[in-house]
Amino acid sequence: MIRHLLTGREFDRAALEKLIETTASLKAGRGKANQPRPLEGKSIGMIFAKSSTRTRVSFEVGIHELGGQPIYLDESKTQMGRGETIADTARVLSRFLHGIVIRTFRQSDVEGLAQYGSIPIVNALTDDYHPCQAFADLFTIWERKGKLEGLKMAYLGDGASNMANSLMMACKLAGMTFAIGAPEEFRPRQAIMDENLGPGKVEWTTDPAAAMKDADFVYTDVWVSMGFEKESRERMKILDPYRLDMKMLGYAKPDVKVMHCLPAHRGEEITDEVMESEHSIVFDEAENRLHMHKAILCTLFQ
Ligand code: CP
Ligand code: NVA
Repeated sequence: MIRHLLTGREFDRAALEKLIETTASLKAGRGKANQPRPLEGKSIGMIFAKSSTRTRVSFEVGIHELGGQPIYLDESKTQMGRGETIADTARVLSRFLHGIVIRTFRQSDVEGLAQYGSIPIVNALTDDYHPCQAFADLFTIWERKGKLEGLKMAYLGDGASNMANSLMMACKLAGMTFAIGAPEEFRPRQAIMDENLGPGKVEWTTDPAAAMKDADFVYTDVWVSMGFEKESRERMKILDPYRLDMKMLGYAKPDVKVMHCLPAHRGEEITDEVMESEHSIVFDEAENRLHMHKAILCTLFQ
């Protein structure tokens, strides 16, 4: 029984396969009769300390569709924003709510909620991880290819970001190759590269064209993640050679698919032309957040 989704490490290979199956079934069944309602009579808190469009809306809609009530909490307007501790907040909210979805800065805060509370906790993005997005992305890939094992994803840009960390972990678990094209300054985290999470392979090169070679999927994300705005100028300069434009796309397989967690900063990490090209699957990818979030909740509340 999986209790929380804090980093993604809670899911082994079999649990991932089940999660993808559940997502497919929820997607196919949406709006039809006799859909699962594991959240009937339950209230799920949604604590957000950072901005969100996709994650917030897809969780709110998903919780509603599963029979539950979402309660959105802007962290700055709660007592957490005035210094109430995570430990106290966790114990209080566990008396009211049946689960919490949280987007915040520190990973330790998400883990603290799980440690001190007594209800399931879902990480909806921290500075370190974005597991909901990475699992939804695996589903999008599986939907296109009917498999995950043996496929190659190239990732260009900030190799140390929450997305890079979570995709690296997800690709390892799924048996994919994750090839990171990132500069020395934003190299992938060694501890996650070395971690034994599954049969997939991780490669890191500072040459973006080399990372793109033979890629089935290419992924990019903003160069300045939320919370890192002070580093904007430096990041723009260092990451400029890692922009995903049509020329860069040409180094991958001819039928390569382009993925981006969104929001995109068009003209920075990705060009308009690539976003609008026939290679782009970014909006299908965004839609799948809803189906995957429902599957995650079904898993935690079965
Ligand atoms: N990809 C993603 O998490 O989007 P939001 O920031 O809009 O939730
Ligand atoms: N890396 C980005 C992802 C946004 C969904 C950020 O943290 O801002």
